[in-house]
Amino acid sequence: MSTSLKKLCLICIITLLTFFTSTSSAQSFKCTSSLKKCDAIVDYIAHNATTLIAIKNLFNIKNLRTILGVNNLPLSTLPNQLVPAKHSIIKIPISCICTNGTGKSNKLPIYKVVHGDSLDHIATEVFSGLVTYQQIQEANNIGDPNLIKVGQKLWIPLPCSCDDVDGQKVVHYGHLVAANSTVEGIAEEYNTTQDVLLRVNGLVSPNDLKAGAILDVPLKVCTNPVTNNSLDYPLLVSSGTYLFTAANCVKCTCDAANNWILQCEPSQLNSSLWPSCPSIHCQNSGDLYLGNSTSYGCARTTCSYSGYTNQTILTTATLDSTCPTSDNSSSAVSLSVWRLNFLVIAVHSFFYVHLG
Ligand SMILES: *[C@@H]1O[C@H](CO)[C@@H](O)[C@H](O)[C@H]1NC(C)=O
Ligand SMILES: *[C@@H]1O[C@H](CO)[C@@H](O)[C@H](O)[C@H]1NC(C)=O
Ligand SMILES: *[C@@H]1O[C@H](CO)[C@@H](O)[C@H](O)[C@H]1NC(C)=O
Ligand SMILES: *[C@@H]1O[C@H](CO)[C@@H](O)[C@H](O)[C@H]1NC(C)=O
Ligand SMILES: *[C@@H]1O[C@H](CO)[C@@H](O)[C@H](O)[C@H]1NC(C)=O
Ligand SMILES: *[C@@H]1O[C@H](CO)[C@@H](O)[C@H](O)[C@H]1NC(C)=O
Ligand SMILES: *[C@@H]1O[C@H](CO)[C@@H](O)[C@H](O)[C@H]1NC(C)=O
Ligand SMILES: *[C@@H]1O[C@H](CO)[C@@H](O)[C@H](O)[C@H]1NC(C)=O
Ligand SMILES: *[C@@H]1O[C@H](CO)[C@@H](O)[C@H](O)[C@H]1NC(C)=O
Repeated sequence: MSTSLKKLCLICIITLLTFFTSTSSAQSFKCTSSLKKCDAIVDYIAHNATTLIAIKNLFNIKNLRTILGVNNLPLSTLPNQLVPAKHSIIKIPISCICTNGTGKSNKLPIYKVVHGDSLDHIATEVFSGLVTYQQIQEANNIGDPNLIKVGQKLWIPLPCSCDDVDGQKVVHYGHLVAANSTVEGIAEEYNTTQDVLLRVNGLVSPNDLKAGAILDVPLKVCTNPVTNNSLDYPLLVSSGTYLFTAANCVKCTCDAANNWILQCEPSQLNSSLWPSCPSIHCQNSGDLYLGNSTSYGCARTTCSYSGYTNQTILTTATLDSTCPTSDNSSSAVSLSVWRLNFLVIAVHSFFYVHLG
C-alpha cells in the first residue's frame, strides 16, 4: 500500500455512511455580501470508484495540488490515485460568488451531459447530492428537466458562502452530514460551536440536522500579514490545509499547532507568471529568507509572506513571542497582540523579456 493511499484512507469513513437519497436535502448557503468572491470547500463522495485526476476534471480544477492542499495530502500523491466508491470524502476547493443572498460556485463546474444521463442522476450520483436537480434546472434555465441533450453543458451551482462569521474571516466548508452525526460533534471536530453552526445554517434545534444534508461549517483561518493591495488578499488558509500562492512561488500552511499563524516558504515550483521564482529575502533583517526565523531569548523574528503583485513578492519581518505565558487560557490572544509588523519590505522586481 503506498504512503499516499494510506493517507487517503485516513480520511476514509470507517463506519458505513448511509446517505438519504437527497432529492430535496441540498440547500443554499446564506451569503449576504453582494457580488463578493472567495475560496470555499465542499465535500464530495464518489458514487463509483474513481481517481483523483477524474475528480479534478469533474470539478474543472486547474491544478491537482489545489485538491491535495485542501485535503492535506502529500504533494507527491499521484494523479491516478484511486478513490474508493462511497466511503472516502474528498474535499473540493471551489471559487464562490455571492448573489441575491446565496453563494454558489462561480460558473464552475461545467458538466457535459453523456448518454443515459438525467438531471437527477447528475445531481444525486455524479455530484453526490451537493445540488438538487431543481437547482441545476434553475441555474441553467432549463424548462423541462426531462429534456437534456447529450453534449449539453450544464453549470453545477455548488453551495458556498463568503460571509464573515462573528466579525472573523473564515473559509466556508460544505460538510456532508454522515448518519448519526450531531451538531455538537461536528462543531467539536471543526473547532466551532453548536451555536455558530445552528445560526449560520438557520437551524432552530440540533435535532433538525439531517443525514445527507450539506452543513455550512465556518473554518477558522490562520492569521497572516498579507496586505489589501496584494493580488491574493485576503489570503484565507484554513486549519490543516496548505496552498500555493504568489504565482506558485510560495507555499503556505495553516496548522492549529502553530497558534493559527500562517507559515509560508518558497515552493520549489515553477512560477505561473515569471520566468523563475525569486529568492525571497527579508532585507534589513540579517540573513532571513522567506520562512526563516531567528530567536533572541523568547522574541522570535520571522520572515513572513505578506503578498504579491504582478511585479513583486512582498515579505514582512514579524515579531512574536515564544515565551510560555502564565495565562494559559488566553495564550493565543496575547500572542497575536504581541505580534508586530515592524518592517515592510517589497523589493523584488521582475524584468520581463517581452517588456524589453
Ligand atoms: C436576483 O434576484 C432578482 C429577483 O428575484 C432577479 O431578477 C435577478 O436576476 C437575480 N440576480 C441574479 C444574479 O441571480
Ligand atoms: C456508476 O457505475 C454504474 C455501472 O457502471 C453506472 O450505471 C453509473 O452511471 C455510474 N455512476 C456514476 C455517477 O458515474
Ligand atoms: C446509528 O446509531 C444507532 C444507535 O446508536 C445504531 O444502531 C446504528 O447502527 C448507527 N448507524 C450508523 C450508520 O452508524
Ligand atoms: C482544532 O483545534 C485543535 C487545537 O487547537 C487542533 O489540534 C485541531 O487540529 C483543530 N482542528 C481543526 C479541524 O481545525
Ligand atoms: C487598505 O489598507 C490601508 C491601510 O491599512 C487602508 O488605509 C485602506 O483603506 C485599505 N483599502 C481598502 C480598499 O480596504
Ligand atoms: C519547471 O520547468 C522545467 C522546464 O520547463 C521542467 O523541466 C521542470 O520539471 C519544472 N518543475 C516543476 C517543479 O514543475
Ligand atoms: C532559510 O530559508 C531558505 C529558503 O527557504 C532555506 O533554504 C534555508 O535552509 C533557511 N535557513 C535556515 C537557517 O533555516
Ligand atoms: C501589472 O499590473 C498593472 C496594474 O495592475 C498593469 O498595468 C500592468 O500591465 C501589469 N503588468 C503585467 C506585466 O502584467
Ligand atoms: C490554566 O488552565 C487550567 C485549566 O484550564 C486552569 O485551571 C488554570 O487556572 C489556568 N492557569 C492560569 C494561570 O490561567
